[in-house]
Amino acid sequence: MSLQPGSIQARDAAAVLHPMVNLGAIEDKGALMIARAQGVYVWDAAGKQYLEGLGGLWSTSLGYGNEELAQAAYDQIKTLSFSHMFNGKSHEPGMLLAEKLKALVPMEASKVFFGLSGSDANDTQVKLIWFHNNALGRPRKKKIIGRMKGYHGITLASGSLTGLPPMHNQWDLPLDGRFIHTDCPHHYRFAEKGESEEDYASRLAHSLEQLILKEGPDTVAAFIAEPVMAAGGVLVPPRTYFEKVQSVLAKYEILFVADEVVCGFGRTGKPWGSQTLNIKPDTMTLAKALTSSYQPLSAVIIPEKMYAPILEASRKLGTFGHGYTYSGHPVCTAVGLKTLEIYARDRLFERAAQLSPKFQARLRSFADHPLVGETRGIGLIGAVEFVSNKANKAGFTPPGSIGTYCFERCHVHGLIPRNVGDGIAFCPPLIITEAQIDEMFDKFTLALDETLDYVTREGLLAA
Ligand SMILES: Cc1ncc(COP(=O)(O)O)c(C=O)c1O
Repeated sequence: MSLQPGSIQARDAAAVLHPMVNLGAIEDKGALMIARAQGVYVWDAAGKQYLEGLGGLWSTSLGYGNEELAQAAYDQIKTLSFSHMFNGKSHEPGMLLAEKLKALVPMEASKVFFGLSGSDANDTQVKLIWFHNNALGRPRKKKIIGRMKGYHGITLASGSLTGLPPMHNQWDLPLDGRFIHTDCPHHYRFAEKGESEEDYASRLAHSLEQLILKEGPDTVAAFIAEPVMAAGGVLVPPRTYFEKVQSVLAKYEILFVADEVVCGFGRTGKPWGSQTLNIKPDTMTLAKALTSSYQPLSAVIIPEKMYAPILEASRKLGTFGHGYTYSGHPVCTAVGLKTLEIYARDRLFERAAQLSPKFQARLRSFADHPLVGETRGIGLIGAVEFVSNKANKAGFTPPGSIGTYCFERCHVHGLIPRNVGDGIAFCPPLIITEAQIDEMFDKFTLALDETLDYVTREGLLAA
């Protein structure tokens, strides 16, 4: 199929290098051009309406077209459209948001550093961990352990923390030596036959400890984890996993970095994924729902035990050589402040918890479908994984092809979820209603049945 010459899609394909997509598909079919949005719906350039099943990219918790956020951005642009935080400058929206975040997070918080994306925030995490260990006279303690299938971003350092092969292959990542990965905690795929969640969690913690001992505990600085892995397929870890992992980390003075970029701000049914999954983080990374994606903004929150040596070193060096032009951008932080105000005023984290049983029940009802191997999720995030054979859990060839097929059928039915391998993920805005949850899963049912028809027609399902 070729694009209509001169069409908006052809012009887009000719000019834009698209992120995270098969570039051949853009050349052949063009992108879905999104034109406008309101509430939980978006409309494409041809006027077709879609329900946003993934909240943008796991991020637009307040949905689209929120007047209060628009007003907050407008007011801030009129008052102070830009001011940086370099060389001893600051401003009120940045200061107020840092104060608010310190009070909200479930950790002993000393300082907040602002960036613009989850990726740059996780780069900052890596740099601060290295800098503070240098300041403490531990120049060897630099390795950071991520997990297979974890996603922490795409820059050189955060892409190295990520544990997804497509983000490494041909990109010369992970960077040598300092980035290592331990097991992916997915019971359905990787537990042994008959192994309980608890036993599986113990085995993973043991494996982590073996990795640390092999690398040398004095060389391992930190462990980074999403409470629930999002891009890896919405993987909720087995019961007792984080407790066991944390007791291993504590033995070797290894920091726990909680990447709350997706799980933060009510997504998992509590304010923080760390609370839902029983994590006691040393540091945290926030982004996405921090502004409900109305402005690019991320935050790294560090404890006093990290800040004190950093301060000391900065006094000696005469500077703290890290920062972005837009660190703490006043418009972004003003929108962040308003977002947090709305979350609290409208009790949206509680709302997510209240909607969760309905969302999870609809999601889990797909478990009996002939194409579905597993349904999983927590709070208002979930996924369905497809298999060609329920008994032996075999997937499809090439991997991801059936996930992509179903994703495209969802579009036809006016739903935008996310394909994660051979599966579909859901992470709707927290403002979604019960009726819209039904609408979302009804549309998905149509797409799923059509995917089954296709798979059956093609003879891809086990007899
Ligand atoms: C858990 C997690 N961390 C970090 C990132 C990177 O964020 P960004 O795309 O804003 O760089 C993402 C993006 O999806 C994410 O899901």
